[in-house]
Amino acid sequence: MSPEIVAHRGASTRRPEHTLAAYDLALRQGADGLECDVRLTKDGHLVCVHDRVIDRTSDGHGKVSDLTLAELQRHDFGAWHGGEPSPVLTLEALIGLAQDHGTRLFVETKHPVRYGAQVERTLAAVLNRHAVEAVVMSFSVFAVHRFKKLKPDVPTVLLYDRLWPRTLPRFVDYAGPGIHLLRRHPDRGQGVYTWTVNEPADIALCRDRGVRFLATDNPGETREHLAAN
Ligand code: G3P
Ligand code: CA
Repeated sequence: MSPEIVAHRGASTRRPEHTLAAYDLALRQGADGLECDVRLTKDGHLVCVHDRVIDRTSDGHGKVSDLTLAELQRHDFGAWHGGEPSPVLTLEALIGLAQDHGTRLFVETKHPVRYGAQVERTLAAVLNRHAVEAVVMSFSVFAVHRFKKLKPDVPTVLLYDRLWPRTLPRFVDYAGPGIHLLRRHPDRGQGVYTWTVNEPADIALCRDRGVRFLATDNPGETREHLAAN
């Protein structure tokens, strides 16, 4: 079976990452799922921003955790990538899009140090309020554990960057190795989530190894590649 195609921050090669334009394009290109990173604002809202600070992806400066949602909303998150003006994307707005399209969301909590368990509590509360199919991911085993205790029915991914242990903690549903780790372990891949897969050789590797979910910045090209090979 072909891997499911997960749009990494949306169709983020062609549109500014974590904007509705990027996710809209990903859906039009046939993505099966949408990946996003979430961080807590100063006043407790989850917004889709990858970096700790907004400097790279907006016309503003500073840490997400030092800014309120209203302060973030004064900035544009589209122009840096040559896109249309785009407000900061809240998780709730992205959930709305996913609901409209019946698409699964892959939500990554970004190394929740400053607010600790508050990130998982807020995420669980948001998912309790909205009926959406979600998978929750983190590089932090503590974060995944905390979330699973709050929402045992939501599948989890533990992301791996440096080492990929053979066994998974019982509260983890899928291993999430980077593609560089998948290349290094020729006997593995069945049923895993891997990221970020943009090269044709890696797309073929994922298909041959039985990867379940493949996160890519180019969902359209990935779908074409899988269909043609
Ligand atoms: O999908 C997992 C992947 O997104 C982890 O890396 O830095 O792109 O969030 P990063
Ligand atoms: Ca991510």
